[in-house]
Amino acid sequence: MTNIAILGFGVVGSGIAEVITQNSEIIKNKIGDEINIKYILDLREFPDSPFADKIVHDFNIILNDDEVSIVAEAMGGLHPAFDFSEQALKKGKSVVTSNKHVVAEKGDVLLKTAAENGVRYLFEASVGGGIPVLRPLGTCLAANKINEINGILNGTTNYILTQMIDFGKTFEVALKEAQMKGYAEANPTADVDGIDACRKICILAAIAFGKLINPSEVSTVGISNIRLNDVKNASEAGYAIKLIGQAKDINGKMSVSVAPRLVPNTNLLSKVDDVFNGILVNGNASDDIIFIGKGAGKMPTASAVVADIVDIAGRPEIKNQQWAQADKNDLVPSDDVVSAYYVCTTSSEDAVKSAFNEYSALSLKDGEFSFITPAMKKSAFNEMASKIDVISSFEIL
Ligand code: HSE
Repeated sequence: MTNIAILGFGVVGSGIAEVITQNSEIIKNKIGDEINIKYILDLREFPDSPFADKIVHDFNIILNDDEVSIVAEAMGGLHPAFDFSEQALKKGKSVVTSNKHVVAEKGDVLLKTAAENGVRYLFEASVGGGIPVLRPLGTCLAANKINEINGILNGTTNYILTQMIDFGKTFEVALKEAQMKGYAEANPTADVDGIDACRKICILAAIAFGKLINPSEVSTVGISNIRLNDVKNASEAGYAIKLIGQAKDINGKMSVSVAPRLVPNTNLLSKVDDVFNGILVNGNASDDIIFIGKGAGKMPTASAVVADIVDIAGRPEIKNQQWAQADKNDLVPSDDVVSAYYVCTTSSEDAVKSAFNEYSALSLKDGEFSFITPAMKKSAFNEMASKIDVISSFEIL
C-alpha cells in the first residue's frame, strides 16, 4: 500500500480524493498497489465530508510520518506550497502538484532537491489540466528539436471569450460562471491578465528547451483589451482571437510570450473553445502535433495529479525533468521577434499608407479602419504604429 497526503482540500484537492476513491480498483489493477489517503491538510474542518477523519491542520504530522511516501500539493499560491514541497522532498517524500505558480517560479530548485534526495517531483497537471502534454513532450517527442509551441493555456479566459463571442454574455457574467465551475484562480486577475498562461508557457518552454525562464521576464498581455469589434473584424477576415502562450526557438535562443493573437481558421487552435486548452507543438521530425482537452476544473485536473501519483507508486522508470535557470542571454529580446499584425485605428487610410506603406485593408466601419501588416520586427511595428492613432493591435499567429 502507498500512503499519500493531500495538501489543500479545495477544488483540486477534493478532486484528487474523489478520483482515488472512485477509481481505486482500476488503479490497483494497473499497478498492483493500493493508494491510501492517510491525511488531508487544510485550515478548515469538513465535518460532512466522507474524508472528515483524514483532515489535519499541522503539516508536521505529515512530514514526520515515515509511512507517507507521496505528497500531493494542491494548495495553490507560492507560499507555503513551495516550502512544504521542499520540506517533503528533503524528507524523502515524492511530491506531485497542479501548482503552476510554484513549478514556473521554483521548479528548477525543487527538481534539484528531488534529485538530491532520490525522490520524484512530477507536475503533469500544472499545464493543460487533464491533457497529457508534459510527459509526451519530454518523452514521446524527445527525438525532436522543438521549433515552436503555441498554446491556449488558460481555461478561464478561453471560456470567457467563447461565452462573450458565441453567446453574447458580458465579461462579468462569463467570469462569474468560470468561477462557479471551478476554473478560475482564487484571484482571477491571474487568469484575465495572462499571468496563469505565462506560468504554463514557461513550464512548456523549460521542458522543450531545458531552461526555466522566470515568468517576470516574459512579455505578457491578457484579454481585457479585446473588443467585440476586433472579434468581428477578425472573424470576417477568417481568424479567431485567442489568448496564446508562445515559445519559439530562434537560432538557439528562446522567445517566450503571452498575448491575444489572431489565429487563422485553418489552424486547429482557432476551433478550441470554452474551457478546453489546445497546445500545438512543432518538432523538426514530428512536424505539428496538437493536444486538446479540458484545461481546468476539478476532475480533469485531478485526473493528471492522480496519474502522477500512480506513476510514482507503480512506475519507477518515470524520471524527473532536469532544468537549469535561463538567463538573459538565452532569450530573444521581444523587440526582435517578427510577426504580422492586425491593427484597428481611427486614423485615415491615407495616414496608414504613409505610416506602413504596405498593408491589407480589412474593413472601414463606424470611423474605424482595420488592416493587416506584413511580417516585421516588433520594434519596427511599434515605430510605424506610433504615427497613427491605434485603438487595438494584435499579432497574427
Ligand atoms: N485558472 C486556470 C485556468 C486553472 O483557468 O486554466 C487551471 O490551471
